[in-house]
Amino acid sequence: MQNFMNMSVKEVIEKNPRIGEILEEYHIGCVPCTVATCLLRDVVTIHNLPGKDEAMLMYRMEKELYPERNVQLREVAEGKEKEEFKFSPPMQELVDEHVHIKQLVAYISEVLELVAQDEDIDRDLLFNVIRFIREYADRYHHAKEEDILFEYTDRSLEIINVIMEDHVTARGHIQAVVDAIDTGNREEIISHLTAYQALLTEHITKEDEILFPWIDRGLTTSQVGEIYRKFSEADAELGSDLPRRNLEFLRTLNEKFASQ
Ligand SMILES: [Fe+2]
Ligand SMILES: [Fe+2]
Repeated sequence: MQNFMNMSVKEVIEKNPRIGEILEEYHIGCVPCTVATCLLRDVVTIHNLPGKDEAMLMYRMEKELYPERNVQLREVAEGKEKEEFKFSPPMQELVDEHVHIKQLVAYISEVLELVAQDEDIDRDLLFNVIRFIREYADRYHHAKEEDILFEYTDRSLEIINVIMEDHVTARGHIQAVVDAIDTGNREEIISHLTAYQALLTEHITKEDEILFPWIDRGLTTSQVGEIYRKFSEADAELGSDLPRRNLEFLRTLNEKFASQ
C-alpha cells in the first residue's frame, strides 16, 4: 500500500479507475479535479475523514489495488470520530471574503448575457467587474493567502502548488479579457470570463471545504494570532477604500440583476 500512497492520485486512478469511484463515494472528488497531481497520502490526510471512514477507505483501496493480498481492516479506537469544525478568526475572514467573490463570480453569467446581446459592449460594466477581480479577489484576498497564510504550510505540497497555479491561471484569463475589451473581441471576452468563472468556483470550493480546514487544524493558537495580525496589517496597507468601493459595486450588481 505504501508505494501507492506516495503516488499521485491521477496516476493511481489511471492504473485503476475504481479508485476514483471509491474516492467519490467519500466525497473526495479527484476525478473531476482539473489537476489531481496531489499524492494519494496527502489527499487522504487532507480530507480528515472520521476514523472509521478513513480505515474503510484505505481497506477498500488496498483490496482493489492488491486483490491477491489478505487485506485487514484497520481497527479504530473509540473517540477518533470527526469533531464539529469551526474556522479560526483569520480563516473565517478569508471564507467571508469568498462569499463576496462567489457573488461576483455568479453575476458573470448575467454580465456575459449582456455582452452577447447588446449592440455596444458595456465597457464600464466590464471594467468594474475586472476591477473587483483584480483589486478585491486578487490584491486584497489572494495576496493574503499567498504572502501570509501559505507561509504557515509546506509550500512544496502539491495542493499548495495547485492553488497557486489557479491564481496564476485566473490572472491570465483576466489579462486576456482586458486585451479582448481593447480590441472589442466579444468571443474572447466571453470565453475567458466563462473560464474564470468555472476556475474560481472550483477554487473556492477546494479552499473552503478542504484546504482551509486542513491548514486551520494544523495551526497553533499563537500562529492563529500572528496570522490575524498580519491580515489586519495587509488590509490596512491597502486602505479601507479598496474593499468599500468594490463591495459597493457588488451592491449595484445586486440591484441591477435582482430586478430582472
Ligand atoms: Fe485562493
Ligand atoms: Fe481564496
